[in-house]
Amino acid sequence: MPRKTTTAANQPTALVTGASSGIGQALAQRYALAGYDVVLVARSADKLQELAQTLRTDHQVQAHVLAADLSVPGAAAKLAAAVQKKKLNIDVLVNCAGVLHQGPFADMQPSIHQQMIDLNISGLTAMVAAFLPSLRERAAQGHRVRILNVASIAAFQPVPMLATYAATKAYVLSLGESLAEEFKGTGITVTTLCPGMTATAMLSGAAGANSKISQIPGFMISPVDSVVQQAFDACQRGDAICVPGAINQAFVLGSRSTPKWLVRKLGGLVGRNAL
Ligand SMILES: NC(=O)c1ccc[n+]([C@@H]2O[C@H](COP(=O)([O-])OP(=O)(O)OC[C@H]3O[C@@H](n4cnc5c(N)ncnc54)[C@H](OP(=O)(O)O)[C@@H]3O)[C@@H](O)[C@H]2O)c1
Repeated sequence: MPRKTTTAANQPTALVTGASSGIGQALAQRYALAGYDVVLVARSADKLQELAQTLRTDHQVQAHVLAADLSVPGAAAKLAAAVQKKKLNIDVLVNCAGVLHQGPFADMQPSIHQQMIDLNISGLTAMVAAFLPSLRERAAQGHRVRILNVASIAAFQPVPMLATYAATKAYVLSLGESLAEEFKGTGITVTTLCPGMTATAMLSGAAGANSKISQIPGFMISPVDSVVQQAFDACQRGDAICVPGAINQAFVLGSRSTPKWLVRKLGGLVGRNAL
């Protein structure tokens, strides 16, 4: 099928970080399926090039690759400048790149905690800040503009043995909820995706490092395509929060309606025995 006769100026474009793997890769595929041009970001340029070629062939969209390490200070600003240089207009900013390390806080090197903070918190915040001027300009021209930030159900309560990771995701959720309200009326919506356990390299990595995680029953692990479809729909609607899957929704509801001291105790019990 020939490429649609549209210009880069009016074709909707989604920029997806963490597009080389897992949820980010599937989100890039979902936006391409919906006819969006895509800008693919992660460190692994080879994987991004391969995905870009597949998306061009399968969906007749433009796919751009911009390899970047978003944990490095200044990387987001450089990326925004590169996008501007290519004269690309971003309609959807998807901040999916993230890193998880699991285990007792005291057993992790300080650099491991810092790695999670640098990417999950600093990198994500820098992305929103760096792209906001162009997103606002786009919205002012009457385009529907969306931000999709990826947090986790770990954002809703403390998680012993995942302490720093859960804290970074609580930050992402709090930032997203604040910005969803701050940006009301500007034409920019902010959706925070809070997946439960999802079948990606991140989960298999955690299971590889801890055999207890590999014993978690299959029904508690969501397939990536289902998570991504619910995230895409929620983002298109402009929902502030998306928790994919009935089990995860029940979990969040339970943790929000239970006294904090009890949530903490239960978290400690689960963390010590299951993680
Ligand atoms: N899987 C789950 O169970 C689960 C549950 C809840 C939330 N999440 C969240 O979902 C998001 C995606 O996770 P996933 O499960 O899809 O994991 P994944 O398959 O490991 O993908 C992580 C992505 O982040 C990129 N990335 C890592 N470090 C980076 C850096 N310094 N700079 C730029 N990109 C970087 C990776 O690409 P490169 O290595 O090529 O840079 C990769 O594309 C994360 O934010 C994660 O916290 C996952």
